[in-house]
Amino acid sequence: MENHVSHADDHEGTRRDFLYYATAGAGVVVTGAAVWPMINQMNPSADVQAASTLRVDISGVEVGSQLTVLFLGKPIFIRRRTEEEIEAARQVELADLIDAGAENANISGEAPATDENRTLDENGEWLVMQGVCTHLGCVPLGDGAGDFGGWFCPCHGSHYDTAGRIRRGPAPRNLPVPVAEFADETTILLG
Ligand code: FES
Repeated sequence: MENHVSHADDHEGTRRDFLYYATAGAGVVVTGAAVWPMINQMNPSADVQAASTLRVDISGVEVGSQLTVLFLGKPIFIRRRTEEEIEAARQVELADLIDAGAENANISGEAPATDENRTLDENGEWLVMQGVCTHLGCVPLGDGAGDFGGWFCPCHGSHYDTAGRIRRGPAPRNLPVPVAEFADETTILLG
């Protein structure tokens, strides 16, 4: 590789620099010859895109359970809610909410925090949220934790309901819903 590089013509040197930057931009650390053939075949834009999206297989997620994945350094909660959880979330009056905004990156910033504006599907079975407390960033506990049957952040006592909306405690905002969609029936695409 040393010889190859030192004898590379201008064209190859330029391409190497370009590919290095493209890859660095995607947040991947690359060194040495081993990655060269793979990068050489990749379209840089596809490379960047692949690093900023994540396909999550949800086929094994039972009703009443939560899958947590790490995406762009943050935990993402993917909960498949029970009928009771959906019902409880839909009965809440907007006037009772601390944060009346949907906090959903997939819809307008002005949208109200109805349960329907928080979930990924119309039936309200799938709730996808960043698992980061909006107070100071701890990861809340799930599986019906807290006084509102959703999530509870033990750091300073923030209670979130079954739609991930803040209901009591110091956290100022609902757990944010990240950009997400169904890629197919059993796959959620994040980013
Ligand atoms: S970080 Fe969650 S309550 Fe303070």
